[in-house]
Amino acid sequence: MTRIIVYTGKGGVGKTSVAAATALLCADRGLRTIVISTDIAHSLSDSFDVPLAAEPVPIAEHLWGQESEVFHNVRKYWGTIQAYIASVFQWRGLDEVRAEEMTVLPGMDELANLLWIAEHNDSGRYDVIVVDAAPTGETLRLLSLPEAGKWWLEKVFPIERRIVQVAGPAVRRLVGMPMPSDAVFAAGEQLFHRLEHMHELLSDSARSSIRIVLNLEKMVIKEAQRSFTYFHLYGYPTDLVIVNRVLPNDAGPYFASWLETQRRYWPMVEERFAPVPMRSAPFFDREVIGIDMLRQLGAALFGEEDPTRFYYQGRPYHVRRENGAFVLSLDLPFTTREDVSLTRHADELVLQVGSWRRNLILPRVLVEAPTTGARFEGQTLNISFAVPPRPRKGG
Ligand SMILES: Nc1ncnc2c1ncn2[C@@H]1O[C@H](COP(=O)(O)OP(=O)(O)OP(=O)(O)O)[C@@H](O)[C@H]1O
Ligand SMILES: [Mg+2]
Repeated sequence: MTRIIVYTGKGGVGKTSVAAATALLCADRGLRTIVISTDIAHSLSDSFDVPLAAEPVPIAEHLWGQESEVFHNVRKYWGTIQAYIASVFQWRGLDEVRAEEMTVLPGMDELANLLWIAEHNDSGRYDVIVVDAAPTGETLRLLSLPEAGKWWLEKVFPIERRIVQVAGPAVRRLVGMPMPSDAVFAAGEQLFHRLEHMHELLSDSARSSIRIVLNLEKMVIKEAQRSFTYFHLYGYPTDLVIVNRVLPNDAGPYFASWLETQRRYWPMVEERFAPVPMRSAPFFDREVIGIDMLRQLGAALFGEEDPTRFYYQGRPYHVRRENGAFVLSLDLPFTTREDVSLTRHADELVLQVGSWRRNLILPRVLVEAPTTGARFEGQTLNISFAVPPRPRKGG
């Protein structure tokens, strides 16, 4: 089974470097590895100091790299459908150029990047696929797209198909609307199955992990935490947090204040992402560019460990709807039934059980919802939230 590892995190934290270093380490250990960048602003080739292209290019023994390219992807995955949508828009009176532009739905081009993951998985050519993903916000949007894309395809295609089947050429003559050909339906269906397949692959905790890269800085940690919540919500397994650019103790007086800040945030990161473990890399005294530096980074992160191992399998918490209300469930690492105290502060929920503390960012649906209780069920703590009253129109 192909192992899939996706690195994401706030802009500039070191995603590309960490993805490249992980891929190189896998290849060095004899695993056939491809590292693919799905960020529109590619920097993988700069990181390896090797030119890459829209299709896989060999970098080293057992190692391939790819910087997927929008136009290439759109042609490859949406070509047939795009041509049809363009004809519908034209029929609605949009001029040709604008019709062309409108056919690339927001996110569709980036989504095509992710479809490469499924393709490489199915090819059987690789043992490991490492993904250098876009910064968290975009990646989140992208990962929620299989659902949105499915919705879109379900809505557009079956209805059209029914019209075609029932009315056929008669309707076409009557309304003049271009009807999709069999080729368009076939392409739509294929795309639908690909999306579903990709979603299955990425949410399968027996093969995929999403790893969050961060630096010990307030805003970076906060964003990482938010994405952590959403990955759980969407059911994407997260197995590791990478703390990059940790200052060494002898960083010198200029960095004294930075060092103190990093020391303060370290235990906070441990607490906020538990039970998902962390691995870290030092702030090197030079850019991480080229094979040698990437090897150093890989060694710092994983040492003798297998970088493809599953560091954590499970969902530390999830949200479900129960009798109209929401229930947030957490698996707690202990069995004693001490008092549970909950503190809410905007979108943060602080949970304290004895001396153990956890700080969660609440998903958007729960931010306005009042907490109505907490109870244990075995090792699981269930926290209930009432559905917030809907604001009525006109007060
Ligand atoms: N541990 C480190 N020590 C020193 N320099 C580092 C380290 N990690 C990354 N860098 C350097 O920091 C810069 C940014 O790293 P990188 O491109 O990997 O970040 P990124 O998260 O992919 O950025 P972007 O969001 O722009 O894609 C690069 O110049 C890289 O060489
Ligand atoms: Mg990058």
